[in-house]
Amino acid sequence: MLGAASLTRPSAGAITVGLSSAERIKQGYERFPYPGSDVAALSQRGGSMPALRWMLGIGRPGSAKPRRVLIAGCGTGVEAFRLRLALPQAEIVAVDFSPRSIAVAQKWERSGKFGRPIRFLVGDLTAGNLRKEIGGDFDLITCHGVLSYIPKPERALVVLATCLATDGALYLGANGAGHPTVALRPWLETFGLTVTGMKEERRLRQLLRLWDALHDDDLGELATMPASYLASDICGAWFNNWSLERWRAAARRAGWEVAGTAVLPAALRLTMDEGRERPLFPAGVGKLSERLDQVRPAGFHRIMLRRAAAMKTSGLAWTGLYTVKVSGGVARFFSATLGVRFEETLTTRQAEALRTLAERKKTSRVAENAWVRSDAGRRMLWRWRALGVVAG
Ligand SMILES: C[S@@+](CC[C@H](N)C(=O)[O-])C[C@H]1O[C@@H](n2cnc3c(N)ncnc32)[C@H](O)[C@@H]1O
Repeated sequence: MLGAASLTRPSAGAITVGLSSAERIKQGYERFPYPGSDVAALSQRGGSMPALRWMLGIGRPGSAKPRRVLIAGCGTGVEAFRLRLALPQAEIVAVDFSPRSIAVAQKWERSGKFGRPIRFLVGDLTAGNLRKEIGGDFDLITCHGVLSYIPKPERALVVLATCLATDGALYLGANGAGHPTVALRPWLETFGLTVTGMKEERRLRQLLRLWDALHDDDLGELATMPASYLASDICGAWFNNWSLERWRAAARRAGWEVAGTAVLPAALRLTMDEGRERPLFPAGVGKLSERLDQVRPAGFHRIMLRRAAAMKTSGLAWTGLYTVKVSGGVARFFSATLGVRFEETLTTRQAEALRTLAERKKTSRVAENAWVRSDAGRRMLWRWRALGVVAG
């Protein structure tokens, strides 16, 4: 499943010489299973996952709850156990190429505290036979903090596509060009510290305390993170800290299209006062996300992907992420999940069509016509797609 040992020169301080990148990465997770092998890790991490409600609203608008869920790169299982709480009836399969991580997850699983069993399996996301091993037809695949740390993420995107149901969706959480390690790793190296493979933990923490004193980002205090986090997210063997443009290009080559990103609604909302978003029209959700990421490069992307072919044929659908109140020709939208509030002035026809859309959850062509016949209407619908009011 892994590439053969290569003769490439290992980078300074690599854990073991003569190993391929993939083997060094795996070895790192065997030493430090993520997010941890003691039970405290179960409550400590996993908080950076987006809301399941958002994943389903954007990825599978108007569809029933997923029956089959795959956690791709599950580590010691925190993500899988969280999803189990939210989806008690679903069949959940969780895969990781680190046997030690899977063993820890299986140990917690045996405690029987998590309801319907989760199938934890050792498997490589870049292996062509993955579907044969785990089955296909998954309605939802989540892959959080995994593809940033593997040398050929495109390969995994191709393999995951083979595991998906036709109307399924993939949540991808991956490092962005604004990730702190872009500056942090070269900076640590200027102190003579080895950043590929965690060796001098005490010195690393000392330098991170200095870094923390100068930074105030949403990653919190790096110096206080558990060793398993530092080994992976700071001293890992491989990093893809990519712009959204680059992740999108890789995803498109594998036949995926961006259905939404977690920051897009709030980012677009920031531009909306006095119609400042107009120059962005009519870029679709994927292109729009790229453009906004170029201005404010994210540290970590939360991206919903769907099969490009399925997106072309699916109609407009209500995501259920907003509540809306219409009075006096003004519609007021609010989403607690996204933390976004905005309003629109509607024609009488649009107000009626909006009611139909929100109540029936899916649009009829007649309702859609209330927007597509005028330039202002088309722009409104375009905003609603980006804001996550509708999808498809
Ligand atoms: C940073 S951890 C994230 C774990 C989990 N998704 C979470 O957020 O808690 C990355 C995980 O990806 C796994 N991984 C990396 N490359 C992989 C591959 N090619 N196939 C399967 N798992 C892989 C590692 O073993 C590790 O457990």
